[in-house]
Amino acid sequence: MADTLRFDNRVIIVTGAGSGLGRAYALEFARRGGKIVVNDLGVSRVGEGSSARVADNVVDEIRKLGGTAVANYDSVEFGEKIVKAAIDAFGRIDVIINNAGILRDVSFGKMTDNDWDLIMRVHLGGAFSLTKAAWLKMREQKFGRIINTSSGSGIYGNFGQANYSTAKYGLHGFTLTLAKEGEKNNIRVNTIVPNAASRMTEDILTPDLLRLLTPERVVPLVVYLCHESCQQTGNLYEVAGGFIATMRWQRSPGLYGGENIRAEDIKRRWAEANNYTGNVDYPQAHTDTLQKVMGIIEAEKARPKL
Ligand code: NAI
Repeated sequence: MADTLRFDNRVIIVTGAGSGLGRAYALEFARRGGKIVVNDLGVSRVGEGSSARVADNVVDEIRKLGGTAVANYDSVEFGEKIVKAAIDAFGRIDVIINNAGILRDVSFGKMTDNDWDLIMRVHLGGAFSLTKAAWLKMREQKFGRIINTSSGSGIYGNFGQANYSTAKYGLHGFTLTLAKEGEKNNIRVNTIVPNAASRMTEDILTPDLLRLLTPERVVPLVVYLCHESCQQTGNLYEVAGGFIATMRWQRSPGLYGGENIRAEDIKRRWAEANNYTGNVDYPQAHTDTLQKVMGIIEAEKARPKL
């Protein structure tokens, strides 16, 4: 089709590309002409073991389709090695899909240091390490597209996932700042919050949902966000079953307690701070908040005293 979004001569690193969502991204970018680094450590759902076969299988699938791919078996914690694999095979890096992930679900009271550290190392540490290793190259070539994979658990919280939801929420903070820092060099960074059938969700979602929520229905958003024609940056998208929607911060009208604000006043007026009706707004930067506060204080000063 004439409007097909192609990735010819683009080099795409997909982490955790051996199964689930990552495999689906890798196959689709390859169908569209991209050269793919299929990264996967081949671990279990809780991050145990390792197997080169997982990445190799996807590379084989891509080659059978007539596409171009190499395997990389390093943990995402070692981003420089993954970048080296891309440079050695293809000479550049255009797109990074930070997708690899594991779970260590346990209620917070029972969570060990290791449960916490491992999740931070893979999700946050992995995205940091790989993106950092590619960042200067993307800046120099004035092109980069990066996807960070968050989760409903990250943006809403979820029982038994204090480690995972912290890391997943953190990934959007990473997106927000990199989007700002990458802006002038045409590096676009977005977060997705997917829902899809995979080994991660096969025992959580109902069979009816699993049938509808195929990884293939998540892939098109990631393809579009990573295409050179897409300038979107710094957003978060929920994506599932073909549904896509962005989300943002909404601020309540708030209460202003003046220079002598007291805890007792806040108690009395608590509903005002928490009520989303009336003059809500949608701040996008820290400076929006400071401007708003200054505006309220100035308006109060200017109000005639009775
Ligand atoms: P999956 O378990 O099918 O695939 C994850 C892949 O990452 C596996 O092949 C695994 O070997 C690989 N991996 C794990 N640790 C690695 C490491 N240190 N280095 C390299 N590779 C590593 O999971 P799925 O469902 O495809 O998830 C992909 C991403 O989407 C994950 O970040 C997950 O947290 C996130 N996610 C998935 C949701 C879903 O509904 N499937 C919901 C919300 C978020």
